[in-house]
Amino acid sequence: MAIQKVGVVGCGLMGSGIAQVSAQAGFPTVVREVSQPLLDKGLASIRKFLQGGVDKGKLAQADMEKTVANLKGTTALDDLAGCDLIVEAVSEDLGVKRELFGGLDRLVRDDAVIASNTSSLSITELSTFSKRPERVIGLHFFNPVPLMKLVEVVRTLRSAPAAVEAASAWCRAIGKTVVATGDSTGFVVNRLLVPYMLDAIRVFEQGLASRDDIDNAMKLGCGYPMGPLFLGDYVGLDTTYSIALIMFDEFREPRFAPPPLLKRMVLAGRHGRKTGRGFYDWSTNPPS
Ligand code: 3HC
Repeated sequence: MAIQKVGVVGCGLMGSGIAQVSAQAGFPTVVREVSQPLLDKGLASIRKFLQGGVDKGKLAQADMEKTVANLKGTTALDDLAGCDLIVEAVSEDLGVKRELFGGLDRLVRDDAVIASNTSSLSITELSTFSKRPERVIGLHFFNPVPLMKLVEVVRTLRSAPAAVEAASAWCRAIGKTVVATGDSTGFVVNRLLVPYMLDAIRVFEQGLASRDDIDNAMKLGCGYPMGPLFLGDYVGLDTTYSIALIMFDEFREPRFAPPPLLKRMVLAGRHGRKTGRGFYDWSTNPPS
């Protein structure tokens, strides 16, 4: 089965990026948000990114127009009815996802692939919310979706190989490299990345080095494009905290335990880029 028409649920940071790369690769793509203002915001961010590409000479104006023409925004879940692949990128809340999977059961074809972009919830658990658990897989994208080349394709013990193959082929068709992984909390990337980011916060918390020295150490010493504290702000400290909690709950290993400073920053509303303040002040350009 080849994926032809794609549905994306959620037009936030990740959903808008996924809808964009799908439409940009020529797939008719329907993206659904719960309200018109949120949908408008997501679609505006896609247009802004595409325009940035045109301004940088990375994208032809005609390709931007084709991408926009391939995209249909909606607030009605029913508009996803004819899709071969649905990628959900709604909030990391099991209740919200349970309701969504129930809604999708009522309207998508039996052979449609239902994929979750969750970064840390169990795909197997999500599959229990669907009447077709064998069609449920994980497609984990990275932020910023249009620039990051990887998608983790997550199979559960029940995933049908045909569903995994169809989704993997689609990922390649949108220009991504696929890494196949089983369903374990954090998959491959977050299993390795999250303890590293938490350790960087512990190093800062213990006063071993300053914020800038920690970030420069990893940028210049290891060639990483961003230092770990900057990356935490970029991803969202609230997101990092909630992934750490889920991973700690799963593995019960101290390396996944969120450091006290991270918890306090989240409680204080210092979530990083999204709230304007984290380890960095994001009201300046570049962040200071
Ligand atoms: N349209 C088209 N191309 C664009 C563009 C646009 N609007 N904006 C930028 N680009 C291109 C640039 O032209 C450049 O291309 P080139 O390499 O051919 O010159 C390339 O994209 C990089 O752009 P910039 O030069 O503007 O920016 P940087 O070099 O600073 O790179 C970055 C930005 C790609 C975000 C880089 O800093 C990076 O890789 N950071 C790490 C991000 C990361 O680790 N993400 C994963 C987070 S973890 C996650 O998401 C998992 C979740 O579960 C938490």
